[in-house]
Amino acid sequence: MLEPAAPRLEQTDGRLFLVSDDGRVCVDFVEGSMGFRRRHGGGRGQAVAKAVGLKGAKTPPRVVDATAGLGRDAFILASLGCPVLAIERHQDIHALCADGLLRAQQDPETAAVLGARLQLHQGDALLYLQDYPASPIASFQPDVLYLDPMHPPRRKSALPRLEMRLFRDLVGEDLDQVELLQAALQSGIPRVVVKRPANQDPLMPGVVSSIPGKTTRFDIYLASRERKRRVL
Ligand SMILES: C[S@@+](CC[C@H](N)C(=O)[O-])C[C@H]1O[C@@H](n2cnc3c(N)ncnc32)[C@H](O)[C@@H]1O
Repeated sequence: MLEPAAPRLEQTDGRLFLVSDDGRVCVDFVEGSMGFRRRHGGGRGQAVAKAVGLKGAKTPPRVVDATAGLGRDAFILASLGCPVLAIERHQDIHALCADGLLRAQQDPETAAVLGARLQLHQGDALLYLQDYPASPIASFQPDVLYLDPMHPPRRKSALPRLEMRLFRDLVGEDLDQVELLQAALQSGIPRVVVKRPANQDPLMPGVVSSIPGKTTRFDIYLASRERKRRVL
């Protein structure tokens, strides 16, 4: 039997797609589910916004999304007012996200919501965190580091969504995610947020609080300086 072809990038109808034998995906912040969420998505009350501390903040926190993927979480946070530096290490995923961001900036309504708040960078956030003071992350002066590494494969027999399957074929399982969290916690960035499947344990001990979502949960870690400030 022939092996299925590896997912590949294709430019069609003015947008970039990740294509496999099963179908194709692209990043679209203007229409579809992201457009709907931008218009009706629950604003600062949604779980991801609460997790980064946006709800009730005088000034929206500066967020580094160290696992940008297709940029949805980064886009939501930036459209709610957070300056966001999104970092993606996989070249093809970065290209898809950059293509979606370019089209978002060309759409007047989406561009108005987004402003200049979302920057996308290709690189390995783990290497940056291991060399923190000299890294683009430190220059951004973040209040929050946000992590959404690949979730472990589901045990259920149902196939995951096409997008997840393509992702898995391309980037695998982010096996260094504990290392990434350790480096994040050592960086001194005041708040670190990890998105986890609702039914899985935290990636590491030390969670100060969690915000539940429908199928996911946001675990919050605070630097010791920040924990003291909150207690005083
Ligand atoms: C589950 S996806 C993130 C989905 C994203 N939150 C969204 O809203 O579209 C995880 C992504 O993180 C990226 N990633 C994992 N570790 C990384 C690292 N150390 N530096 C940069 N990107 C990383 C993977 O390549 C993958 O694209």
